[in-house]
Amino acid sequence: MKVLVLTGAGISAESGIPTFRGEDGLWEGHRFEDVATPQAFARNPDLVHQFYNARRKALQNESVQPNAAHVALAEFEKRHDGEFLLVTQNIDDLHQRAGSRNVLPMHGELLKARCMLTGDLFDWRGDLSVQTPHPTEPDLVGTLRPHVVWFGEMPLGLERIAAFAEDCDLFLAIGTSAVVYPAAGIVAATDPHCRRVEINLDHTPQSDRFDLTIRGKASIEVPKFLESLE
Ligand code: OAD
Repeated sequence: MKVLVLTGAGISAESGIPTFRGEDGLWEGHRFEDVATPQAFARNPDLVHQFYNARRKALQNESVQPNAAHVALAEFEKRHDGEFLLVTQNIDDLHQRAGSRNVLPMHGELLKARCMLTGDLFDWRGDLSVQTPHPTEPDLVGTLRPHVVWFGEMPLGLERIAAFAEDCDLFLAIGTSAVVYPAAGIVAATDPHCRRVEINLDHTPQSDRFDLTIRGKASIEVPKFLESLE
């Protein structure tokens, strides 16, 4: 059985990382367009760096740990003998920390920095600023940005995701509001024979495309569902 999983902010909510679409429509007090677009970064790089620095720091707080849903996915992958791909829209590293191996972070990774000139990628745990020098080319200053996908930018790994979706046997979407494309369109790209399962607290605009929708908390429903597959 070929299994494709898509996760969103809902799977990390119980680990203490706030989801994006809170009731006030703000993302940790900011409008998306002020902190998560290339234009925002060009206009006010200090604000954008501060925003991601705070999130990077929060992610490394001891209280933020993978929860039972992350762990269940990692354990499933280990015992599963077919192909498996875990596509995540999350920029946290909780799937990797839980032990998942085939993870494709389609919206980038908070714990990486990228040089805008050379494209070099670096593991990054501290702050970034407009004064940060490139680690191996000290003449380059202020060229690093968070390795995250902003609105208007192309998500990562789209060809690999499309190729995998085309002939997977099970598609499992967990904790995503299914309003941001192209991630929200993956369910429609799966083959008619594929079984599609959604696990989410609420109904989403894509819910009707799934064969089974499970309403509940990821930390409870994901382990339960994966155990039911055996
Ligand atoms: P959202 O914040 O839009 O949606 C989170 C979803 O998870 C909602 O449908 C919640 O009902 C659900 N949820 C919350 N807690 C849950 C729990 N404990 N168990 C199960 N479900 C739960 O997050 P995403 O769908 O990930 O993109 O957002 C998609 C993209 O929008 C993000 O990757 C980000 C953002 O703009 C970029 O930054 C490019």
